[in-house]
Amino acid sequence: MAEFKLPANSRYNEVPGNYYPAPSAVRIKTFKVYRYDPDSGDKPRVDRYEIDLDRCGPMVLDALLKIKNEVDPTLTFRRSCREGICGSCAMNIDGKNTLACTKSISDVKKDVNIFPLPHMPVVKDLVPDLTNFYAQYASVQPWLQTRTPAPPDQERLQSKEDQEKIDGPSACILCACCSTSCPSYWWNSDRYLGPAALLASYRWIIDSRDDATGERLEFLQDSFKLYRCHTIMNCTEACPKDLNPAKAIAEIKKILVERTV
Ligand code: SF4
Ligand code: SF4
Ligand code: FES
Repeated sequence: MAEFKLPANSRYNEVPGNYYPAPSAVRIKTFKVYRYDPDSGDKPRVDRYEIDLDRCGPMVLDALLKIKNEVDPTLTFRRSCREGICGSCAMNIDGKNTLACTKSISDVKKDVNIFPLPHMPVVKDLVPDLTNFYAQYASVQPWLQTRTPAPPDQERLQSKEDQEKIDGPSACILCACCSTSCPSYWWNSDRYLGPAALLASYRWIIDSRDDATGERLEFLQDSFKLYRCHTIMNCTEACPKDLNPAKAIAEIKKILVERTV
């Protein structure tokens, strides 16, 4: 029988969390937030925070900032742009990986459950350890590689059609929502590159200016790095930028097949 290993301390339900009631308010929403501090030696727990929606911005990130600024400064999470551009506020909200800054509180009908991105080691609270994720991204060498010198007086140009091919994949913000929603990645993240890194590789494989296509494909020709994708499509479903990593992975497989016939 297959045995699956869950990340340490991914279970929390034996430990009752803290409760932070709202002062009297008309529109109260409860946020249930995963809390875990590995340095404390305590087990993970879920704290409950009641927020007055009439004194809070519309997005889940607004509520988290309100909690941190006004209720509990120990709550830890990443955020930067507040515009869905940097990818740092990715977390699991209402059972789905997404960006806290673009997720509207009103889209969640009941209590708002907030957890870190699944199946990753937790640094603290809502902050996952993305070391492996970034190393995998770096492993696909996501930069232009050329063998010919650039034209002396202009940039390396490409046609509008060729540019449009890389337009979509280039919009990836490396939030990791896709990879951490992929069951294949959960169980094989040490060897399977996952949809985000593979989308990045695809972006350079199809770039008309890049000369390293062969090396890039060779690198992916591996039963784990690429072929652990079983087209389950969770990744595409999860992407908050409406990108399609599953299709990119299928395209890479197709290119590899065409290359060998
Ligand atoms: S399509 Fe592939 S990468 Fe996407 S969730 Fe499924 S197995 Fe993972
Ligand atoms: S493909 Fe989408 S979900 Fe995956 S890292 Fe890029 S932006 Fe995030
Ligand atoms: S804070 Fe940058 S994407 Fe949410």
